[in-house]
Amino acid sequence: MNKIAVMASGRGTNLKVILEAAAKGKCPVEVALVISDKSDAAALDIAREAGVPNVLYIDPKDYGDRTAFDAACAAHIDQAECEWIVLAGYMRILSSAFVQRFRNHIINIHPALLPAFPGPDGVGDALAHGAKVSGCTVHLVDEALDGGPILGQVTVPVLDDDTRDSLHARIQEQEHKLYPAMLKKLVEQGFELDGHRVIWNREPNFVNRLSW
Ligand code: GAR
Repeated sequence: MNKIAVMASGRGTNLKVILEAAAKGKCPVEVALVISDKSDAAALDIAREAGVPNVLYIDPKDYGDRTAFDAACAAHIDQAECEWIVLAGYMRILSSAFVQRFRNHIINIHPALLPAFPGPDGVGDALAHGAKVSGCTVHLVDEALDGGPILGQVTVPVLDDDTRDSLHARIQEQEHKLYPAMLKKLVEQGFELDGHRVIWNREPNFVNRLSW
């Protein structure tokens, strides 16, 4: 089974749908580790309730800098032998050492159609700009903020009476379908990179493993 580590800072609804999809056999991954940088993240409770074997709150204040904090996370990911690192509402920027260590094995979901509206408030920025269509993006994480190669996207119309919350709620409905579907495709099908483009393999069961 493809072991994944999920890193989450908040409500954890994306974590929840991934756990549910895995439990129902709809997504062939095992959530082996959940890490949060927030002690009160609901994601931690969701992970514990689902019986994730390793559920950790790691306090950034215990580490001198971003690189040291990320190294601590990486040690847990290595120990749990996770193949993929899935960012699900993880609101910290990753150090370049961490990105290099797990290159092309870290994925993120962002609540906008990248490359439009990167950053911490993709929903609010799209709304404020007057975009008529927004959506969500699952992408590989590289050194550029929300700038890595795109794995998949879904569009969501922006309505005239939308608020940040109403738009985010409709985007999240799509996130909850897209993220488990992308994870399934990732582990079953695999991809190759052509520059910044993700080209999905035609043959299933492609093996794109980290070496343990
Ligand atoms: C999601 O909408 C995700 O796209 C967003 O945080 C939310 C987390 O929701 N991520 C970012 O904005 C990253 N830049 P969740 O905690 O309920 O999964």
